[in-house]
Amino acid sequence: MKKTIVIYQSKYGYTKKYAYMLGELLDCPVYNRKRIQSDELLEYDCIIYGGPIYVGGVSGIDVIDRYPDIFKKKQTIVFTCGLTDPSLPETVAHRNDHMKQQLTKESYQAIKIFHLHGGINHKKLPLAHRLVLLLIHHLHIKDDISSLDIGEKEIMNAYGKIVDFTSKEALYPIVEYIKKDV
Ligand SMILES: Cc1cc2nc3c(=O)[nH]c(=O)nc-3n(C[C@H](O)[C@H](O)[C@H](O)COP(=O)(O)O)c2cc1C
Repeated sequence: MKKTIVIYQSKYGYTKKYAYMLGELLDCPVYNRKRIQSDELLEYDCIIYGGPIYVGGVSGIDVIDRYPDIFKKKQTIVFTCGLTDPSLPETVAHRNDHMKQQLTKESYQAIKIFHLHGGINHKKLPLAHRLVLLLIHHLHIKDDISSLDIGEKEIMNAYGKIVDFTSKEALYPIVEYIKKDV
């Protein structure tokens, strides 16, 4: 199997949880992207980046275009982790559209993307994030939920709750993809 590393960014631990489960399934190292030097990535054939979704975009994904000399030479896989349901085509389209804006066309076309379902714990959110969600909730409280976009809908549904959709099984397609592509 290719020499693989998982790097991730995570604010509340959901993406981190996926990154470590993936590291276990693939028996490969896992690093917070801020704790690894870019030149250390050179020794791997395959780099998996896991990033959470905040206000549509994938946090930290800029790392791919910041180090083109590294990522262009490697097989790059990205998994995203957000509250919207990735089994819905709407979610996939929404996340992919944002990624197209965040990456160069060349990078977007070169990477393999997987979308995963994260979670949220409103009680643990700091004030700034609670205010963002409060604002969205307040803006849409009187709206018909079916008229909202997928992100707004999910935020309205999960508002004030603790939800955790993470599962090991959700990572199996990534493992299969890597193992097949030896
Ligand atoms: C302020 C805020 C904005 C968010 N925006 C989105 C969003 O646009 N789309 C989405 O799917 N999830 C959104 N989420 C949910 C996060 O993506 C989800 O909580 C994810 O599991 C966080 O992963 P992390 O703990 O690894 O950072 C948002 C969460 C917060 C607190």
